[in-house]
Amino acid sequence: MEGSERVRHSGPILAVIVLALGLLAGPATAQNPSGSNPTAQAVSEQQLLDELNRIQGRITIPDDKAAVLQQPQGREFQSFHEGTLPWVGGVAVLGMLILLAIFYLVRGRIRTQAADSGIAIQRFNAVERFVHWLTATSFIVLAITGLNYVFGKRLLMPLLGPDAFSGWSQWAKYAHNFIAWPFMVGVLIMLVVWIKDNLPDRYDWGWLKAGGGMFDKSNSTHPPAKRFNTGQKLMFWAVVLGGAALSASGLLLLFPFSYADVNGMQTAQYVHATIGMIMIAIILAHIYIGTLGMEGAYRAMGSGDVDLTWAQEHHRIWVERQQAKTAGGRRQVPPSATATPAE
Ligand code: HEM
Repeated sequence: MEGSERVRHSGPILAVIVLALGLLAGPATAQNPSGSNPTAQAVSEQQLLDELNRIQGRITIPDDKAAVLQQPQGREFQSFHEGTLPWVGGVAVLGMLILLAIFYLVRGRIRTQAADSGIAIQRFNAVERFVHWLTATSFIVLAITGLNYVFGKRLLMPLLGPDAFSGWSQWAKYAHNFIAWPFMVGVLIMLVVWIKDNLPDRYDWGWLKAGGGMFDKSNSTHPPAKRFNTGQKLMFWAVVLGGAALSASGLLLLFPFSYADVNGMQTAQYVHATIGMIMIAIILAHIYIGTLGMEGAYRAMGSGDVDLTWAQEHHRIWVERQQAKTAGGRRQVPPSATATPAE
């Protein structure tokens, strides 16, 4: 037999041997350390996800996170971020605005019943007002820029166009990252300054039973209260606890992957975004009652003093104690806290 003919005859035999060796060796070499075989035809993406909880490969760069290509939690997170969150936010924020509008139309402004006395009494000193407005202005910036994360792409981008929207969003992100700090400091100082006035007391139950007098259109229901009534105490604790949760989850997001892996980062996002939306709704109610909703309230945080009549109607026990202190000659309140004629 000629040499070339011999090669032609032995060809099929060699192929069979190679195939047999391949079948014997194949499954062992293609398996990854977890036991599944990512290259086998029968392995679907879903099967891999189910078995391994993530699809992960091998990489040569030092950043291990980059090796994870897919994980089921990522899809759940995406569906939360793109679906559930805008709904939760929309219902909370729009729902609160609608409720407040209905409350205003049905109930009207909460008015002081008696005429002003013309005597001013200090309600908040300069430090308290500074801390309040520091926290309030930073919260408003955080709220607007936070809403931009959730609704900006859907609502603003079609109006501004992609270029202007991305420019604004970049600044919004910087603002969100940096203004978070004064907010955290503000909440912390608020806690220290006001905690003693926000502990439960024996007037709380009566205040709650009377709905704080908020639903009495004649404005004649005034459940007794100390410096802060029960509604304000609830607001205080919502700010402190909500602020703490926002701060903790926000710090995890501010330093990505320093203290949390990818699942931890997603959990931080769930917590941060959900509590953020609820806080915005609560603060809308607070802003309403501090401005349009109640006659005489804004002055307390603006100039720091209120008319004695307002104080007696809304915080009777507090006024009685303040007056008892000054009458007894004990200077536990700043000089301007004593009753002085209003200008
Ligand atoms: C434009 C926005 C705001 C206005 C007009 C406003 C107005 C007021 C007023 C008038 C008071 C005093 C109520 C009284 O004399 O009894 C007050 C208290 C308070 N504010 Fe604000 N506020 C605003 C935003 C905020 C924000 C954003 C926060 C926190 C994130 C906040 C937290 C508080 C707390 C904890 C108190 C004491 C408890 C209470 O009165 O509810 N405020 N605010």
